[in-house]
Amino acid sequence: MLKVGVIGCGYWGPNLIRNFSQLRRTDVTLVADLDDDRLSHMKKLYPTIETTKDYRKIIENPEIDIVAVATPVHTHYKFASEALSSGKNVFIEKPMTASVNEAEDLIRLSEKHHRKLMVGHTFEYTSAVRKMKEIIDAGELGDIYYISSQRLNLGLFQQDINVIWDLAPHDISIILYLLGQEPVSVSAIGSSHINPLIEDVAVLSMQFSNNLIAFVQTSWLDPDKIRKMTVVGSKKMMVYDDVQPSEKIRVYDKGVDVPRHYDTFAEFHYSYKYGDIVIPKIDGSEPLQTELDHFIDCILNDEKPISDGNSGLRVIKILEASQKSLNEGNKPVSTG
Ligand SMILES: NC(=O)c1ccc[n+]([C@@H]2O[C@H](COP(=O)([O-])OP(=O)(O)OC[C@H]3O[C@@H](n4cnc5c(N)ncnc54)[C@H](O)[C@@H]3O)[C@@H](O)[C@H]2O)c1
Repeated sequence: MLKVGVIGCGYWGPNLIRNFSQLRRTDVTLVADLDDDRLSHMKKLYPTIETTKDYRKIIENPEIDIVAVATPVHTHYKFASEALSSGKNVFIEKPMTASVNEAEDLIRLSEKHHRKLMVGHTFEYTSAVRKMKEIIDAGELGDIYYISSQRLNLGLFQQDINVIWDLAPHDISIILYLLGQEPVSVSAIGSSHINPLIEDVAVLSMQFSNNLIAFVQTSWLDPDKIRKMTVVGSKKMMVYDDVQPSEKIRVYDKGVDVPRHYDTFAEFHYSYKYGDIVIPKIDGSEPLQTELDHFIDCILNDEKPISDGNSGLRVIKILEASQKSLNEGNKPVSTG
C-alpha cells in the first residue's frame, strides 16, 4: 500500500482524494489545506483521513510515498520541489508550474532524487482522446491540416492566472499528444473585461512544421459550456465534443479534392466529398482513475509516466510563449 498526502482540497483536490482512496494500491492518510471548512468537509467524507493546515506535516511524514498537489498554480513549485527533495513521488495538477524555469527545476529534482514526477494532463487518459490518437496514427484522416479547439464557459474567474493558463493546458496537452510534435512558434491574442489585469477571453495559435496549425479558443465569458475539438485531415475530418455524454467523437468522410489536371480556368473546379459519419464506441471509465493507476504502475515498476515532467514542461513552454505574445501584441514567439 502506497501512502498518499494531498495538498489542496478545494474544487479539484477532492477528486484526487476520492480516486486515490478507491484504488487498491493507495491509501490517503493526510490532507492539507488552509481552509478549515474544506478540511472538516473532507473529514466528514473520509473519517479515517487526518487533516492539517500545515502542508509540511505531509512533506516531513516519512510514511508518505506520494504527494499530490492540487493548489493554485503559483504554489505548485514550492510544494513539489520540497516534496521531491524529501524523497516523495509527486503528482501535480496542471499547469505544472508558473514558469519554464520552475518546470525544469522540478525535472532536475525528480532525476536527482530518483522519484517520479507526473502532471495531471487528465485528457491524455480519456478513452475519447486515446481513440482519436488511434484514428490519427492509423492514417484514417490522412495528413493533418489543422486542429481547432474551443474551451468556453461562464467563469470560474481565476485571480492569479489568465484564461489561457487556466483552460488551455488541457487542449495543448491533447494536441501535443495527438500530433506527437511540438510547435515551432506560438502567438496569442486576448482581452480583459472583468479584471483589467487578467485576460478573460483569448485565442492561442500554434504553428507546427509541415504547414500544420492549431488554434485554441478560451473564454470565461461565454453563455455556453463548450468543449470541442476539430481535427481536419486530407482524407477525413474528426470532431470531439466532450460535453456529449456519449457519442463524443464523430469521424466525417468529408473533404475537398483539387483536380489534378486542368488546362483552362473554366475546367478548374474543386470536388467536395460528403460521405458517411462514423461514431466510434468509447468506453466510459473515469480518466482520473486510469491516470492515477498509471502513476502507481510507474512508481512500482520504475517506468516513465506518459504525462511526466517533460510533458508538463512542453505545455509550460507554450503557455509562457503565449504570455510573451500577448504582451507583445500578438507577435509570434519561437518555442524552439
Ligand atoms: N485536471 C483537471 O481537470 C483539473 C480541473 C480543475 C482544476 N485543476 C487544477 O487543480 C489545481 C487546483 O485548482 P482548484 O480549482 O481545485 O482550486 P481551488 O482554489 O478550488 O482549490 C485550491 C485549494 O488549495 C488550498 N491552498 C492554497 N494555498 C495553500 C497552502 N499554502 N497550503 C494548503 N492549501 C492551500 C486553498 O485553500 C484551496 O482550498 C489547479 O492547478 C488547477 O488548474 C485540474
